[in-house]
Amino acid sequence: MNKRIVITGATKGIGRAIAEKFASEGWDLALCARTEKDLAELNSKLQTANNKLLLSKCDVSKKEEVKAFAEKVNSEFGAADVIINNAGIFIPGQVINEDEGTLEKLIETNLYSAYHLSRMLLPKMIEKKAGHIFNLCSVASIQAYPNGGSYSISKFALLGLSKALREELKEHHIKVTALIAGATYTDSWKGSDLPKSRFMKPEDVAKSVWDIYNLSENTVVEEILLRPMLGDI
Ligand SMILES: NC(=O)c1ccc[n+]([C@@H]2O[C@H](COP(=O)([O-])OP(=O)(O)OC[C@H]3O[C@@H](n4cnc5c(N)ncnc54)[C@H](OP(=O)(O)O)[C@@H]3O)[C@@H](O)[C@H]2O)c1
Repeated sequence: MNKRIVITGATKGIGRAIAEKFASEGWDLALCARTEKDLAELNSKLQTANNKLLLSKCDVSKKEEVKAFAEKVNSEFGAADVIINNAGIFIPGQVINEDEGTLEKLIETNLYSAYHLSRMLLPKMIEKKAGHIFNLCSVASIQAYPNGGSYSISKFALLGLSKALREELKEHHIKVTALIAGATYTDSWKGSDLPKSRFMKPEDVAKSVWDIYNLSENTVVEEILLRPMLGDI
């Protein structure tokens, strides 16, 4: 039986690169995002003769939609081998002057999504005594910066969730990895004046996930910090 990976926000950027890597290794994939046409396009790219693809339109900032996605995964997929809590948004700003509601939006999308999805999928993983959760944290999870505002707060919290899960899940033989990523060239950076070469490649993040997953069962990478070669932007 193929191994199974669940990825939120899999139609673009880092999530997509991870989906492509695992599809190329013959895995079954359960993927979600909000835009239906992007999911349809993904279907034609990632479907092979041998893998199962479960694509769902889901806004992970809404608990009810996460629940529907998780129920589909649990019933059609069974226990996931890997969960990638990747879906996230960036809204630049400062705590002192960002729009009212910015913190709520960022926490709902970047934190509650991972909290609820993990809680909903974990019972089957715990039963199986195996699995690996990756959370897409950020350099903004470990340091504040002037235009980081509530984004940074949400990513610090996601790192906190990763640490809590790591402690709780070690006895169940489930690994938890916080991927602390620096600037990576994706749609969120399109329009930037900087050359593409100044950024990390989403494929490098995907390769890191693959390599970290493939360590022996004796070792877990709790946190990994990936930065652009020339440093932060
Ligand atoms: N790029 C960077 O420099 C960087 C650095 C550090 C960490 N990160 C983190 O890495 C993750 C991915 O970033 P990225 O740059 O690859 O993003 P991206 O290119 O903007 O892609 C985001 C993906 O998530 C989906 N998505 C966004 N909001 C969603 C929601 N509410 N529900 C479901 N899906 C949603 C998008 O599809 P739809 O819009 O169709 O929903 C898309 O598939 C994020 O958590 C981000 O904070 C990125």
